[in-house]
Amino acid sequence: MLEGKKIIYGVTGSVAAIKAPIIARELMRANAIVQSVMTPSAEQFTTAYSLSVITQNEAITNIFSSSASTWHIHLGRSADAMFVAPCSATTLGKLRYGIYDNAVLLVASSLPPETPLVLAPAMDEEMWLQAAVQENVAWLRAHGVHIIDPQSGALASGLVGLGRMSEPDELVRKFMALIGTQKSNQTIEHHTHLSLQDKRILITGGPTYEPIDPVRFIGNRSSGKMGAALANVAANEFGASVTIVMGPSTSETVQSVNRINVETASQMHGAVESLSPSSDIIIMSAAVSDYSVKSYSEKKLKKHGAADAFTLELAPTVDILKEISANRKAKQIIVGFALESHANGEAYAKKKLAEKSLDMIVLNYFDEVGSGFSADTNAVTIFTKNGKTKNIPLASKTMCAREILIAITELL
Ligand code: CTP
Repeated sequence: MLEGKKIIYGVTGSVAAIKAPIIARELMRANAIVQSVMTPSAEQFTTAYSLSVITQNEAITNIFSSSASTWHIHLGRSADAMFVAPCSATTLGKLRYGIYDNAVLLVASSLPPETPLVLAPAMDEEMWLQAAVQENVAWLRAHGVHIIDPQSGALASGLVGLGRMSEPDELVRKFMALIGTQKSNQTIEHHTHLSLQDKRILITGGPTYEPIDPVRFIGNRSSGKMGAALANVAANEFGASVTIVMGPSTSETVQSVNRINVETASQMHGAVESLSPSSDIIIMSAAVSDYSVKSYSEKKLKKHGAADAFTLELAPTVDILKEISANRKAKQIIVGFALESHANGEAYAKKKLAEKSLDMIVLNYFDEVGSGFSADTNAVTIFTKNGKTKNIPLASKTMCAREILIAITELL
């Protein structure tokens, strides 16, 4: 699965580094071209020699060696992904704060934003649960770094708890799923490079919240990650002029994306309605509530008797996608999303494609492992109105966004 891909494999100072040579071997078995890099603490647990022998490539340990530092700085540019396993709490903290004082960190600092960085933290449970560590992990996630969460199990300290790194074969499988069907950097660049430069793209993302009273709402579990990935990739890599209408979501978008934050389906409808006439491409990835509360209560509702049932009357919201499609401009491309189960998802998605007269529908599954609202990965199938189908197996949401945008360019 990693055929011909250049993977930088970083090892940091955690006891789990004793497994590093086996992880390197698994990467080699997947046919990757592996360059290993180590921190000084990693050398307390494993050796540069064993990594060099296994990867058939001299491991980098020292940023101050003769010809080294400028070369290391460029290493990330030509890589297809970087994988740090185990990743210590210290490395998480330094990556978060931009402290690049060893070989692993220096190479990580040279990764272009679109190159996946995957970290597999491993440490004792108390350390993993420290507020500072959790905050660093959350920050890194919000900035596009992939984290393979540690598991519960026997730890090197003799304790049993959370913090254990997965076994090497499983870990490498997770890494491959995250970087997914990623093509080599060159192939991607060939497709994406500023190919939507003259297009205005409108994207919706995230959930909507339908208020019941000042403190309660009806919502859903959408994280907005897919919408944010589409917006960021369309702006950064395809050079499009992007506006996202985003429901309540902590997913970050880059500065060049014009972001309009909304809360309710009706606010999303209003924003999309005014922006759609001037858009060339409209991608509706938001999980819009199909219903809103009929009569909002200005005052916080009080509980009735404990045994009383409570009925809330709901009214349907406007199907924004359907409305936009019915009023489309000539040559406007309209893309919808469908969240379905594996059982009959394809039929439902195709039905929505036809009923809403879309150019494309992206089917994703709520019952696929590693897929769904809060995951960093997704598995999608793209159906176009001209009968084409494209299957994207489990891949990062950034990679799914690239494939969706490439499929859009093919429709233009
Ligand atoms: N959509 C919309 N406005 C709504 C509801 C959905 O624009 N009020 C869009 C979503 O952004 C998505 C697509 O429609 O692109 C989803 O289609 P829909 O038929 O609404 O899917 P579900 O709500 O999941 O339908 P169901 O629950 O019946 O499967």
